[in-house]
Amino acid sequence: MTEKLDLIIGMTASISIYKTLEIIRLFKKSGVNVIPVMTQDAKRFISPLLVSSLSESDVYSDMFDESGGKFYHIMLSRGAGAILIAPATANTIAKIANGFADNLLTSIVLASEIPVIIAPAMNVRMFENRITQQNISRLKKLDRFKFVMPESGELACGDIGTGRLADISDIFDYSMCFLHKYRILQGKKIMVSAGPTREFMDTVRFLSNPSSGKMGYELARVAHWLGADVTLVSGPVNIKPPHGVRVINVVSASEMQKAILNENRKYDLLIMNAAISDWRFKKVADKKLKRDGKTIDVELIENNDILKRAVQSRRFRFTLGFAAESENLLRNAKEKVTKKGIDGIIVNNIRRSDVGFASDFNEGKIILKDGSEIDIERCSKREMAYKIFEAIGERL
Ligand SMILES: Cc1cc2nc3c(=O)[nH]c(=O)nc-3n(C[C@H](O)[C@H](O)[C@H](O)COP(=O)(O)O)c2cc1C
Repeated sequence: MTEKLDLIIGMTASISIYKTLEIIRLFKKSGVNVIPVMTQDAKRFISPLLVSSLSESDVYSDMFDESGGKFYHIMLSRGAGAILIAPATANTIAKIANGFADNLLTSIVLASEIPVIIAPAMNVRMFENRITQQNISRLKKLDRFKFVMPESGELACGDIGTGRLADISDIFDYSMCFLHKYRILQGKKIMVSAGPTREFMDTVRFLSNPSSGKMGYELARVAHWLGADVTLVSGPVNIKPPHGVRVINVVSASEMQKAILNENRKYDLLIMNAAISDWRFKKVADKKLKRDGKTIDVELIENNDILKRAVQSRRFRFTLGFAAESENLLRNAKEKVTKKGIDGIIVNNIRRSDVGFASDFNEGKIILKDGSEIDIERCSKREMAYKIFEAIGERL
């Protein structure tokens, strides 16, 4: 990612504050520069030393810095893309809703115009109290304030009800959408396919491959952060869907084909990242087959080339394939671009065990129809997703 992302994380005095440490870690892992601002009461729950170690930043808390000349409440938000307040106490929400600026965090909010994402966490009675609800409604009416609402369940105090801090990965995903100033995919409709497919032989056995779906999920996630309306068609994987992305779950190649081809919607881009089985069993037994000491012959028939059909459907303005190759990488990839009529392909070498299938890392080359080739050195799959969109964003 070439864009530098700065986020102010406001931490207030809720019992769920320990979860913010994990949120900070998620942002740091994505290359975001985190600027922590803690209320005085928040510092009674956890040590600023812990926060500063994890965020690799000074922790800001004091409005009245005695060293002089530092207007932190004005300075800190300059250059930041957004403010995330997680957890947000009833007290801090009330102060912001009423324009108070009696500490560093509330002053920063009042002295800036950048988006503020608020993740409330509190006891159910505090949350459902009409005063808190009115404060939240008041802020929601202003475009700048966005809420990741709390979940319901058992609360730290033992009560059951709504008030538990939202899932940290949802808070992270949602905030990332507001952090990018250059939303290069704003308004674009993008479909991504991900994961493996399963071709059943009987009721329990199937033909599949080791695709984890990580690359496709990162593509969907990053596309959404960059402003796109994203549909993710996913084979069976073990990953939580990214917040804000429409997911269509499928199992077999034929289900994947239906999900991709049978919709009426037009898309600006289709990225075919799923590792779709090239074959399926000719006969599928309707019960679990039993062994009886004999060899069994199975016949495999070829599945349709979904990407080729997608091109023919003319519903996708730009089509990008992935090619996992073990030999003649470039020649095979270039042939695929021509044969399938696609706009480009991302080729990676499946002989490498440190990248690709199931790994968190990838490397490859983007080969476009117009002859351009862009190398992507070994990087995380998230970073690779950014690089792909940076390379093709202007062509969409
Ligand atoms: C153990 C304990 C847990 C608390 N948890 C919460 C909470 O989850 N949410 C909340 O709104 N207030 C909670 N409070 C009350 C706040 O800490 C209190 O209103 C504080 O003044 C808020 O300060 P701040 O908004 O400036 O951080 C808790 C208080 C204590 C002692």
